[in-house]
Amino acid sequence: MHRVMVVGASGLLGQHMMSAGTEMGLAMNGTYNTVNDEMSGMVRMDITDADSVSQGLEAACPELVVLCAAMTNVDQCEREPDAAYKVNMEGSFNVASECRSAGIKMVYISTDYVFNGLKGGRYHEFEPADPLSVYARSKLEGERVTLDADRNNLVCRVSVVYGWNRLNRKSNFVSWTVDSLRRGQEIRLYDDQFVSPTYAPAAARDILELSLGKLKGICHTSGPDCLSRYDIGTTVAEVFGLDASLIRAVSTAEMPLLAKRPARSCLGVDLAESELGRPMTSLRQGLEMMRDSE
Ligand SMILES: NC(=O)c1ccc[n+]([C@@H]2O[C@H](COP(=O)([O-])OP(=O)(O)OC[C@H]3O[C@@H](n4cnc5c(N)ncnc54)[C@H](OP(=O)(O)O)[C@@H]3O)[C@@H](O)[C@H]2O)c1
Repeated sequence: MHRVMVVGASGLLGQHMMSAGTEMGLAMNGTYNTVNDEMSGMVRMDITDADSVSQGLEAACPELVVLCAAMTNVDQCEREPDAAYKVNMEGSFNVASECRSAGIKMVYISTDYVFNGLKGGRYHEFEPADPLSVYARSKLEGERVTLDADRNNLVCRVSVVYGWNRLNRKSNFVSWTVDSLRRGQEIRLYDDQFVSPTYAPAAARDILELSLGKLKGICHTSGPDCLSRYDIGTTVAEVFGLDASLIRAVSTAEMPLLAKRPARSCLGVDLAESELGRPMTSLRQGLEMMRDSE
């Protein structure tokens, strides 16, 4: 049985990684930093502390490490660039160095935001990155330190991850949309930011399967769609039976954000689909599974 350690198992993708791995029959260990739900096998690890990383890995002795931990709030990264680089670059470096010393394969979870979004079409793995924000630049550094440590490591990029968060109250784009519409609250969604929404339980399984194979380098493991945030919102309303008239389309110019976002950072997933031998999970499929598992 493969031993897998999920660093950042208390986060959205990390918690689904733990469940997917257990369902796949893998021996899972997970780490938290501040959110501990007494989940079995969860140990505390702060990736910015090299000793904490080496002690955690020594105790668990995994064959594979999946690094989900990151500073993920894009605007907070813009406000606190030192903290963003500390976690997303230095923290990733600590994990990558320790994995290299111990001969452990590492998988780094990254983002569609490494692209500038100006291309107009989907981005593939071989296309050059051009990050627009502190978050995106620090994540790209995380990719670099992962692949510099060992060319056999894998970088999996996802985009707008959604699903139920069973461990803490942190919302995601879809859960926030559902909650707001259920409260009858009007929401404003960008109709000029296009992304590839990624259902956390499906991505978790896909990433674990790919990680256990021979794939190395970069792989896009998002959902297959390319949709505006407004279109995602109206699909959420439809699938969950909520009032779509509460959703108002806005443009980025009308409602600017602190950190710059790419206009169209949709990912091409052909590589992942051909490696897995199945299509990636569409938004509609993901939302239906989410609705049915509430
Ligand atoms: N969410 C998205 O839409 C999205 C889109 C593209 C890419 N991604 C990438 O996907 C990955 C997972 O994202 P997510 O949304 O699941 O994350 P999340 O829910 O925000 O969780 C972040 C995780 O990182 C941990 N963490 C933060 N700082 C840490 C530190 N110093 N040491 C150790 N752990 C630390 C957190 O631990 P505690 O909670 O215990 O403090 C938590 O487990 C990230 O790499 C993110 O960049 C996410």
